[in-house]
Amino acid sequence: MSTATPSRTESEVRRRRTFAIISHPDAGKTTLTEKLLLFSGAIQIAGSVKARKASRHATSDWMEIEKQRGISVASSVMQMEYRDCVINLLDTPGHQDFSEDTYRVLTAVDAALMVIDAANGVEPQTRRLLQVCRARNTPILTFVNKLDREVQEPLALMDEIERELGMTVVPFTWPVGMGKFFGGVLDLRKDQMRVFTPGEDRVAGTEEVVQGLTNPVLAERFGSPYEQAAGEVELVREAAPEFNHADFLSGKQTPMFFGSAVNNFGVQEVLDALVDLAPAPGSRTAIQREVQPVEPKFTGVVFKIQANMDPAHRDRIAFVRVASGKFERGMNLKVVRSGKTLRPNTVVTFMSQKRELLDEAFAGDIIGIPNHGVLQLGDTLTEGEALQYTGLPFFAPEMFRSVEVADPLKTKQLKAGLQQLGEEGAIQVFRPIAGSVLLLGAVGQLQFEVVAHRLEHEYGCKARIMPSRFQVARWVTCSPEDGGEKELKRFIDANDHRMAYDAVDAPTVLVEYAPELRAIESNWPKIKFHALREHA
Ligand code: G4P
Repeated sequence: MSTATPSRTESEVRRRRTFAIISHPDAGKTTLTEKLLLFSGAIQIAGSVKARKASRHATSDWMEIEKQRGISVASSVMQMEYRDCVINLLDTPGHQDFSEDTYRVLTAVDAALMVIDAANGVEPQTRRLLQVCRARNTPILTFVNKLDREVQEPLALMDEIERELGMTVVPFTWPVGMGKFFGGVLDLRKDQMRVFTPGEDRVAGTEEVVQGLTNPVLAERFGSPYEQAAGEVELVREAAPEFNHADFLSGKQTPMFFGSAVNNFGVQEVLDALVDLAPAPGSRTAIQREVQPVEPKFTGVVFKIQANMDPAHRDRIAFVRVASGKFERGMNLKVVRSGKTLRPNTVVTFMSQKRELLDEAFAGDIIGIPNHGVLQLGDTLTEGEALQYTGLPFFAPEMFRSVEVADPLKTKQLKAGLQQLGEEGAIQVFRPIAGSVLLLGAVGQLQFEVVAHRLEHEYGCKARIMPSRFQVARWVTCSPEDGGEKELKRFIDANDHRMAYDAVDAPTVLVEYAPELRAIESNWPKIKFHALREHA
């Protein structure tokens, strides 16, 4: 057997952890993110969440609109070092109207941290996001937050998570009391209790630790909340299976931690678990073959495009997940779809507060490539190989609006703006075959508002966004054995009054009512109708 020392690429890949935090709004994602960043020294902010929220725009949120709505519109990326690992944390918008963006971000991570508000339990947005993770077998760690409040009983929460999310929960810690009587957590693996002290500026690792879960000191000091917790732990130990790493990696088991993010309590355990349990980047599937992260040649995939992140630069940044090899600044990259070559000199990495110039990156890292429309969502970049990664999802919109420019002299700006926002995935833009009015498609109402706002502030054109009669869209294709392009053209010609093309020229049929779609489907058995389009 070979005992060769690992290559630089191998050892760099091994120490990467790339994950996203998923939660329902208000569960504590922002708070937790900032506490995680504090550990790595990436930021040194002391103070309340409120103060941070006010200054948040300097860190993870760039957009003006966010200040107005107080929700996270733009997903962002933060890189930090912790222990001997490089951790890439991808932020996701919590608001369900931006779930499309979130789904795409989830294709770029190797693990997810699910934050649950212990008072509210499993909430709708958590459920939706988790479904996406489950579909991809993404390993999930669970953090149950806000134990410093009056919340649900931990056993009930555990049961709810198991039932609602269809995963086996394996508690790593267990809370002693809650709210005013929150005493801390029993660490079931280290056989100790960590004692809770409140305080937003509390530094991690400074809490008092009492050794031995059955130490008589605990019963004396914490009384009945301890007795109850000890009884529950016994029960859980009998009922819950042992932690199984393989089951965790395939998304069947989730380790569960309790804490209070705002008090920086229980956060470090989660970070440690992430380093110890979450996987390093693995292989990725392209149409042509499976690609290993330690292959010497660079490959990457664009999973997000953000226009005008920094108004001073007015740039468009393509977020690329490095899938293999080593990226070096100034190297030539082939955009496989178009065959064009890029030589990005100003690639950026995301070091929490400022965008810094990047020299090299390995699998698992996210790099930002400023460009002017050369890169689209789902694009694969290579050193020359013809390779196309799969799996970046686009969902059929569920709401439609037609859009017109308020000032006809600004038609050009409207078109340019919509094209860019469409390529970015902020909204889907359809060009109907009949007529000249563009259609916008979204999964959430807020997307229209954001687009109107951005058209005005970033592209200088006021748009009139009006109701549309359409309610359902389906991408249409026809496989070669069913007649291929010829049959598809026949379908398009026969339905030209309700056909449109999307941002990448994929033909789409638009209908007013679901029954109408069913009728079309039965009339055209050779045509396939897709609610989900995977970039390929
Ligand atoms: P999000 O990103 O998931 O939407 O949640 P965020 O971190 O903004 O937290 C939502 C609210 O929950 C915030 O309060 C935050 O202070 C609070 N919070 C987070 N972690 C804990 C915790 O461990 N215990 C308690 N009691 N509260 C917690 P807010 O009043 O909505 O915001 P702010 O006005 O304090 O900024």
